[in-house]
Amino acid sequence: MAKIGFLPPLIFLVLFAIFGTTLSVNATNISTDQSALLALKSHITHDPHNLLATNWSTSTSVCNWIGVTCGSKHHRVTSLNLSRMDLTGTIQPYLGNLSFLAWLNISYNSFYGSLPLELANLHRLKYLNFGYINFTGVIPSTLGNLLKLERLILHDNNLKGQIPITIGSLSNLKQLNLDYNSFTGSVS
Ligand SMILES: *[C@@H]1O[C@H](CO)[C@@H](O)[C@H](O)[C@H]1NC(C)=O
Ligand SMILES: *[C@@H]1O[C@H](CO)[C@@H](O)[C@H](O)[C@H]1NC(C)=O
Ligand SMILES: *[C@@H]1O[C@H](CO)[C@@H](O)[C@H](O)[C@H]1NC(C)=O
Ligand SMILES: *[C@@H]1O[C@H](CO)[C@@H](O)[C@H](O)[C@H]1NC(C)=O
Ligand SMILES: *[C@@H]1O[C@H](CO)[C@@H](O)[C@H](O)[C@H]1NC(C)=O
Ligand SMILES: *[C@@H]1O[C@H](CO)[C@@H](O)[C@H](O)[C@H]1NC(C)=O
Repeated sequence: MAKIGFLPPLIFLVLFAIFGTTLSVNATNISTDQSALLALKSHITHDPHNLLATNWSTSTSVCNWIGVTCGSKHHRVTSLNLSRMDLTGTIQPYLGNLSFLAWLNISYNSFYGSLPLELANLHRLKYLNFGYINFTGVIPSTLGNLLKLERLILHDNNLKGQIPITIGSLSNLKQLNLDYNSFTGSVS
């Protein structure tokens, strides 16, 4: 009987040896978050108050950047709030690499273009506010993968097409604001 007690920890060690190395290959870290935010910054064409230009500097941690908040435990970007900074630019697929992001608020700016499909990679997202931005294109149906989403705010854009049926499967959704867009058809 005494020997059995060794078995579970041993199995765990063996499994860790096999899979731990595999996991570390794909591991992301704060450098991934920094690259994602620098990609976002590099596609901002107008920053009239020089907020990101001077503040988002690689000489300080991204966690000290204006609008950025990191989690205290894992030290990854959990919140991005660029609301009302008068920014003009496009949103890059790189945004989807902020894998710990729970709050995303870029409302009341002049971003344009379409919503990147990579948004659907942000599995921890609870709050998404893209209100009053002027985005065009459609709502990607894959937004229905964001199962933790509680508030989805997309009012005052130029989104068209149908509202994807997948939005209806977001069981944690408490607020949905799609006012002032150019949707066609019914909620499909
Ligand atoms: C992040 O991971 C990369 C490789 O995956 C590594 O080169 C880099 O030093 C790591 N950065 C930090 C801050 O841990
Ligand atoms: C960036 O802005 C934050 C928040 O306003 C401030 O605490 C920080 O000192 C600024 N960093 C730089 C390098 O200007
Ligand atoms: C997002 O931005 C709007 C407009 O500036 C603001 O009213 C709201 O409180 C913000 N929400 C969060 C969670 O930061
Ligand atoms: C996000 O930024 C907006 C505009 O500056 C501000 O009203 C709101 O309180 C901020 N939200 C948080 C959670 O700091
Ligand atoms: C982040 O996202 C971009 C574009 O979606 C991708 O090319 C890149 O390899 C991703 N990974 C890292 C670690 O930056
Ligand atoms: C919104 O986009 C349209 C067409 O892309 C453009 O004509 C208009 O000036 C934009 N409005 C804002 C507030 O950026």
